[in-house]
Amino acid sequence: MATNSIAAGSDKVYQAMADEIKARNLKFQLTKTGSMGLDSMEPLVEFVVPNKPKLSFAKVTAEKVPALLDQVINLHLDTETPFYRVDEQENILTGEKTFYCTGKVPRILRDIPLIDAIPYYAKQVKIATRNCGIIDPENLEEYVARGGYFALYKTLTEMSPDGIIEEVIASGLRGRGGGGFSTGWKWRSCRDAEGTVKYVICNGDEGDPGAYMDRSVMEGDPHSVIEGMIIGAYAIGATQGYIYVRNEYPLAVANLTKALAKARDAGLLGKNIFGSGFSFDIRISKGAGAFVCGESTALIASMEGKAGEPRAKYTHTVEHGLWDRPTNINNVETWTNVPVIMARGADWFSSIGTKTSSGTKVFSLVGKVNNIGLVEVAMGTTIREIVHDIGGGVPQGKTFKAVQTGGPSGGCIPGSLIDLPVGFEELGEAGSMMGSGGMIVMDDTTCMVDIAKYFLDFLAKESCGKCTPCRDGVRRMRDILEDICNGHGEEGDVELLKGMSEAMIDGSHCALGGSAPNPVLSTLRYFQDEYEAHILDKKCPAGVCKALIHFHVVADKCTGCVKCKKVCPTRAIQGNRKEVHEIDQTLCIQCRACYEVCAFDAIIIE
Ligand SMILES: Cc1cc2nc3c(=O)[nH]c(=O)nc-3n(C[C@H](O)[C@H](O)[C@H](O)COP(=O)(O)O)c2cc1C
Ligand code: SF4
Ligand code: SF4
Ligand code: SF4
Repeated sequence: MATNSIAAGSDKVYQAMADEIKARNLKFQLTKTGSMGLDSMEPLVEFVVPNKPKLSFAKVTAEKVPALLDQVINLHLDTETPFYRVDEQENILTGEKTFYCTGKVPRILRDIPLIDAIPYYAKQVKIATRNCGIIDPENLEEYVARGGYFALYKTLTEMSPDGIIEEVIASGLRGRGGGGFSTGWKWRSCRDAEGTVKYVICNGDEGDPGAYMDRSVMEGDPHSVIEGMIIGAYAIGATQGYIYVRNEYPLAVANLTKALAKARDAGLLGKNIFGSGFSFDIRISKGAGAFVCGESTALIASMEGKAGEPRAKYTHTVEHGLWDRPTNINNVETWTNVPVIMARGADWFSSIGTKTSSGTKVFSLVGKVNNIGLVEVAMGTTIREIVHDIGGGVPQGKTFKAVQTGGPSGGCIPGSLIDLPVGFEELGEAGSMMGSGGMIVMDDTTCMVDIAKYFLDFLAKESCGKCTPCRDGVRRMRDILEDICNGHGEEGDVELLKGMSEAMIDGSHCALGGSAPNPVLSTLRYFQDEYEAHILDKKCPAGVCKALIHFHVVADKCTGCVKCKKVCPTRAIQGNRKEVHEIDQTLCIQCRACYEVCAFDAIIIE
């Protein structure tokens, strides 16, 4: 089970299922898996009955369990309709198919949509998340049954380290942790660096608000990370690996710890792996959850027991990394791609995606979108396909306004660029970045100045304080944005924000400060009119900034239903039933409750 499904109640469903199976003495094997990604449908329960389509039920509760078991056992669908069925499933690692139903699909199941007909899944290509929601992450045998560790066997017994690096370079794999640097070339630099002791590190810090791609993989498929790291370590010549994961991810830590122990017991870690003469092991290093500790040099400092502060970039970690030894750091998602590249080959991998961004990318699709969850798509998929086709669009018929990609240091891409393909270059040219894969959807009720303020506030709290442009610059920019939102913006603020951004980009010590102005610059690039409305007209067009908005009743539309009066927490609304109501502005605290509850659109924000 993954954190997101547990939050939806999957642990209670599991317990109810275990109790029911025991009470009825059923011959069912109950397995916990990671998440299939679609949070809004959790808890998801899948039933595999020999020679029948695999059936998936969504939003299962503990109370529904007895009826659900009856349905599956007796193959009737009286109470619960399956979310989807799976007749056959391709294993992307091996290219082979598993056939759940070899004969005719029973008549009663024919109208149940196939998983590929569910828009959320139809356009996804799952490489990094290939096993999430399919295998029990605590069960090594299930990973192996899906082709796991065969790529490791192949590389260690048939390939030279240089051959592996060439293959990774040819695949075009670029780091999924933010910068998009070529993985193969980074491995090459680390292999070529002088020194007999070398390290590989998996960066599982993942501090971006709203991002949980790496957590899902570490929780749902930890062996894929471990296998990728062993292959990388062999190619680079490292004998020790570390997985740096935040302590706020307890389930990821637990599943990784169990997976490492099982891999060790099976001889996949330790001395002389597969009789190849190569020895390697991995330890977990827990972080305390500071965003800046995701930056590679701050991460290394944190692992060494020092304050988590980035260091100057002219010293490369591939030469002088952990304990001053050559060190290769890759993101969780980067590592999980490695076994698939080795198994299917560089040509196959680079045939997915675009010329400059090969393979897939996992995004956490959150915010104002119907289908909230993790999605993995081929690079080059458009924002429209992700938000509308996979995400099901913006709820309540509202308009898609923008999407923030790249986390707090990324940028907002406006609705007018909805057909932009996602790729490292494309997102950069649009003023944002790929980052690690956060994707926050905004509708027309989102104020872009307020959003920029939110991200700057986050960064002001997370700046390590080592250098002045970032330490003072981010705070000062946040204060200016706060003033603008509070109605105290002044002419010249926009120019001041732009000037400060330039200084921070030039003078910051690390990429946190260097990219911190991005939310401001991208919102200014596409939504400068909103800034001007706040500063010059003292108005918030999206109706968000409390100091700049007032709630009014439109007399012609008000039916006097008294609903607004009942929900107003400050008794600011007066009026008798069937009479036009009025709002006392001196009592109104702009909580929006009346606006949300009025069924006649009689309350407006100005
Ligand atoms: C402020 C900041 C935070 C970062 N956080 C992460 C993170 O949480 N995970 C990650 O993999 N990379 C993060 N990075 C990028 C890393 O410095 C590094 O580039 C990455 O781990 C390298 O792996 P890759 O080549 O596989 O992308 C961060 C960078 C900065 C500047
Ligand atoms: S730019 Fe910010 S986070 Fe980076 S070293 Fe300077 S103060 Fe620290
Ligand atoms: S909820 Fe709307 S229609 Fe009803 S009294 Fe309030 S303003 Fe009038
Ligand atoms: S916005 Fe809130 S406080 Fe103001 S009138 Fe409506 S319900 Fe009352």
